[in-house]
Amino acid sequence: MQVRSADAAEIDHLARLWHEGWHETHAPLLPPHLTRLRTLESFRERLQAALSDTRVAGPPGAPVGFSVLKGEELYQLFVSPEARGSGVAAALIADAEARLAECGVETAWLACAIGNERAARFYEKSGWRLAGTVVNQAETSTGPFPLEVWRYEKRLARPT
Ligand SMILES: CC(C)(COP(=O)(O)OP(=O)(O)OC[C@H]1O[C@@H](n2cnc3c(N)ncnc32)[C@H](O)[C@@H]1OP(=O)(O)O)[C@@H](O)C(=O)NCCC(=O)NCCS
Repeated sequence: MQVRSADAAEIDHLARLWHEGWHETHAPLLPPHLTRLRTLESFRERLQAALSDTRVAGPPGAPVGFSVLKGEELYQLFVSPEARGSGVAAALIADAEARLAECGVETAWLACAIGNERAARFYEKSGWRLAGTVVNQAETSTGPFPLEVWRYEKRLARPT
């Protein structure tokens, strides 16, 4: 599965993928106040801002998954329900790790919603380890929203 940079023309499609995936998997685990802020438009705006750090897998115009990097963080990783269990997520995380390593990151981290067991299992089998439960500042349209999360970390191989 080839992973490539996201195209601006794919933002609406990616925003729908993110919005639907978030409400399916995260809304049941997180405070209602945060859920109310997670509108389709909010995801569209965040993708617009992060476009240059967004990588996708799947057909042009209709990607089935994406990742977003932010500094040393694997900031987002979402795969459509149909593409889960297919290896798309593995391709996206391998690409994300390679890009982080190329930027000189030695230890990458990510925040996982507490109770997101499928994602946790995926990260663990991808070589990430649970570093602990920490308070993370979730990005919202009204400012940072403090949220307890599972912090995962992975030491990255140096790029060859
Ligand atoms: C997290 C995500 C990217 C992982 O990709 P994926 O294709 O589902 O990953 P895989 O199927 O390769 O691996 C998931 C593992 O969890 C297991 N699993 C499935 N449901 C599970 C559950 N309810 N509890 C625990 N493990 C579960 C699967 O069996 C698989 O493990 P296995 O390979 O040992 O059998 C994808 O599920 C996704 O996009 N989820 C919605 C968005 C999300 O939660 N993103 C992460 C934000 S931190």
